[in-house]
Amino acid sequence: MKKAALLALLLVPGLVLAGPPAPKKEGIESKDYKWNAQEGEKIEALKLKGDPKNGQETYEVCGACHLPSGAGRPDGTFPQLAGQHATVLIKQMADIREGLRDNPTMYPFAKEAMHNPQEVADTSAYIQTLCIPTDHGKYEGKDYDAQVAKGKELYEKQCKECHGVNGEGNAEKFYPVIAGQHYKYLLRQMTEIRDGHRRNANPDMVKVIKPYTNEQLVAISAYQSHLSMPGRMCADKGAKGGKKK
Ligand code: HEC
Ligand code: HEC
Repeated sequence: MKKAALLALLLVPGLVLAGPPAPKKEGIESKDYKWNAQEGEKIEALKLKGDPKNGQETYEVCGACHLPSGAGRPDGTFPQLAGQHATVLIKQMADIREGLRDNPTMYPFAKEAMHNPQEVADTSAYIQTLCIPTDHGKYEGKDYDAQVAKGKELYEKQCKECHGVNGEGNAEKFYPVIAGQHYKYLLRQMTEIRDGHRRNANPDMVKVIKPYTNEQLVAISAYQSHLSMPGRMCADKGAKGGKKK
């Protein structure tokens, strides 16, 4: 589909839902699930050198939901994407395109805006260069300091090893950047990961998060939305790339 036609789709409520139905691939609900299996278009996209210039063009359609800055929305509907590792982006998009991560809202765009592994690599390369906006959604409930302190204790014990002390993740290991993500999106994802609904989840993380109560998820989301990656946030002097809003 042409970009103009895709953008027009966004303006017609209901039409998106009438788009092509997403495929469904077995994920964590299956006994044979292997997280991040090296197969499909993902390995092709990972091998290619992404061109951020071309990616910027493709990203125009994505910006309708994720915003041109990559900031997403504080209400947690659309995640913050800016500064995410290209490896993580490629994996997530391949999972969505192949039906391993359910995302009916985005599926038609993930499928139609990027025509091949090269365009997936280009778009990811572009998003990775964006600086991370600092005006994302934070915890707004009661006892902010106490919640953040409680979340910090859990995070440092059980999450830091993979997601890093500042929420920087690990590009090589496909561990996502958490810093700058919206509180409400974090809470929703962790609830879905705990409850087995995010089907492309990492089983080692699921083990860790399985026993968490809803209250603990709130605290740990409050703490995560508080994290900041030095040198990568849009407010930092010299932060790479990145159009501000
Ligand atoms: C119609 C709105 C919409 C459009 C257009 C859209 N997305 Fe999304 N995207 C979403 C939603 C909603 C989610 C979160 C789904 C969920 O809750 O699991 C998402 C999730 C993602 C994620 C996973 C982020 C994470 O933290 O795991 C990536 C990567 C992504 N989108 C990239 C893109 C790219 C690249 C494009 C353009 C080709 C695009 N999106 C277009 C709605 C959209
Ligand atoms: C063994 C490493 C590991 C541990 C431990 C771990 N995670 Fe994760 N986490 C991952 C991976 C890998 C993903 C991405 C899974 C995928 O491929 O979709 C992820 C995804 C997430 C996401 C969704 C991010 C997004 O952009 O969609 C959040 C939020 C998160 N982890 C928070 C946590 C918290 C909080 C803890 C501690 C309670 C934790 N993780 C422990 C590896 C880990």
